[in-house]
Amino acid sequence: GAPVEQEYSKLEVGQQITVEWRGKPVWIIRRDKKMLNSISKSEEIVADPNSEADQQPEYCKNEYRSIDPEFFVAVGICTHLGCSPKLFAEPGSLENEWLGGFYCPCHGSKFDLAGRVYAGVPANANLEIPPYTLDTTNKVIVV
Ligand code: FES
Repeated sequence: GAPVEQEYSKLEVGQQITVEWRGKPVWIIRRDKKMLNSISKSEEIVADPNSEADQQPEYCKNEYRSIDPEFFVAVGICTHLGCSPKLFAEPGSLENEWLGGFYCPCHGSKFDLAGRVYAGVPANANLEIPPYTLDTTNKVIVV
């Protein structure tokens, strides 16, 4: 398939846009400091904090699973049976074992704001990160 280009600089914090890439939905989401902090906190309750299972390109193998921490790019398909998880951008609390992220309405899988699956839910893999670049004119290019 052809690469997909999407301008992203005008996204507001917590806002999500979806582009179609090879028949799959790909999300672009703007994250602020608060959202990034919640990712650091969810470390202890996600199943694969370091994404050892290779669901992302090498250049996204970092804490925030992105090229630029402020912009999260991920394939919007639940790794359980393929439903579409919904974004909850507002960080929750560790006491509730919910720090914000993505909730899949089909069977209740939860992912954090870096798309890492929480422990103890039906899905057992982190959301996939597609191969992409950020160009100098503020476009995400999913390749
Ligand atoms: Fe998402 Fe089953 S498809 S929890």
